[in-house]
Amino acid sequence: MSRNVAQDQLTAERVVPLLAGRFGVPYLHETSCESTQRLLAPDLPEGAVAVCDEQREGRGRLGRAWLAPPGKAILCSTLLRPPPDRSAAELSLVGGLATAETVEEATGAVAQIKWPNDVLLGGRKVAGVLAEASGTVVALGVGLNVNQTADELPAGARLPAGSLFTADGVQRERAPLVAALLLRLETNYERWRDGGLASVRQGLERRDVLRGRAVVVNGERALARGIDATGRLEVEVAGARRLLESGEVELVLD
Ligand code: BTN
Repeated sequence: MSRNVAQDQLTAERVVPLLAGRFGVPYLHETSCESTQRLLAPDLPEGAVAVCDEQREGRGRLGRAWLAPPGKAILCSTLLRPPPDRSAAELSLVGGLATAETVEEATGAVAQIKWPNDVLLGGRKVAGVLAEASGTVVALGVGLNVNQTADELPAGARLPAGSLFTADGVQRERAPLVAALLLRLETNYERWRDGGLASVRQGLERRDVLRGRAVVVNGERALARGIDATGRLEVEVAGARRLLESGEVELVLD
């Protein structure tokens, strides 16, 4: 590993030779951009990918900002054109599963998924997924914290933030991780496209950090039952079953 792995740029020159599937064609790289979610024109082919080393206006779910210092994280968006009979809302889960698998392959540790879009490692959020639909296309954005030190991570987040580095002390080259992530995204996306959520559900269930845990939903205490067949979170509030389509669920840490 080179001395400068934390500074490696995710240029096409570095990443494209590592790509093994159809995602990443074309591969658009900018050193700095507002948000990779804005770089994908809707007429690009499915699998087009935008990556940058620094985002000036990175976006998270529910209008939050997504922050990462330059050169330390993976910030990428992939253009998808899901079939009309699939629910694009499920793509956050598909992206979360692909990201969790990438994290596991890189670290050898088990990653968890917190419905609907967080990826956790050792109890800390190391990645988030943002699926934004516009007409028939979806920009599936992934932010994965790779080489940040503890003091380079956002403080005061609702879930404590982590990076692969804070989990295991290893500084990693980001280019091979981008290639691995794109392959996992493609594999899981195609499974979902052809077979629906059922085809990725086992992978989700195995990593579901909320299942069986006490949670808070809209200020009410509840018991999380798990992700249902349509990607909703099933919770039990005062003995009554509720299905959540989206929103905020906090884990109760006893
Ligand atoms: C979240 O956890 O709220 C989702 C975070 C998604 C962040 C990624 S970084 C790449 C892409 N560009 C953005 O502006 N957001 C997504």
